[in-house]
Amino acid sequence: MSTQDPVVPVPVERILIGPITGQDSEALFRWFNDPQAARFDYAWRPVDGMSHQKWITNVGTDPTQVWFAVRRAGHNGIVGFVILRNISPVHRSAELGVRIGEDGDRGRGVGKEAARQVVQYAWKALNLNRIQVSVFADNERALRLYTALGFRREGLLRRAQFIDGAWKNIVIMAALRPKAATTPA
Ligand SMILES: CC(C)(COP(=O)(O)OP(=O)(O)OC[C@H]1O[C@@H](n2cnc3c(N)ncnc32)[C@H](O)[C@@H]1OP(=O)(O)O)[C@@H](O)C(=O)NCCC(=O)NCCS
Repeated sequence: MSTQDPVVPVPVERILIGPITGQDSEALFRWFNDPQAARFDYAWRPVDGMSHQKWITNVGTDPTQVWFAVRRAGHNGIVGFVILRNISPVHRSAELGVRIGEDGDRGRGVGKEAARQVVQYAWKALNLNRIQVSVFADNERALRLYTALGFRREGLLRRAQFIDGAWKNIVIMAALRPKAATTPA
């Protein structure tokens, strides 16, 4: 398995990752309550306003998770988010999740560039050794995104989730820390 950083084409737009702010709350609430987008990701159930408010107030306080807002350079609006969750300091591992909120913003290289930056953060800031993703086997765009970033397929969970009336197989993929992520002292 190659441990080098994969070559990622320069995106058309400059994409930034950064903290979630109170102004992102409305868009996030809408996206969390978008059953169509959830069909690519998890078994959807509505998120109520009170729980959402509590979540966004505490979003930075859980040491096992880091949430990033994705923005276009020069614009305040959030276009998506990337999360590192189940961060384990013992195993130096985490799981990655990506969502570009609006359909019109997908397929333009934004998700790949944002995820690329978060993967670099995981290696260089969190000193992680392994990042895992779980992808529905029919989510072609997500499979291509993770493959392009150097994730390798490790296995298949058959009929792992029941989504919108059908069983879904889940592909497990992971990236291991590239040697290039560590600079000698
Ligand atoms: C999956 C998702 C994060 C990808 O982000 P994106 O910005 O839309 O995707 P990108 O434009 O960065 O493209 C990623 C890859 O998919 C390919 N792609 C783009 N649109 C595609 C489409 N309609 N069908 C198949 N592949 C597509 C791109 O060419 C790229 O692959 P490449 O590097 O081999 O060329 C985003 O579409 C999304 O949020 N979808 C809904 C939620 C979801 O599926 N989350 C992931 C759960 S694991």
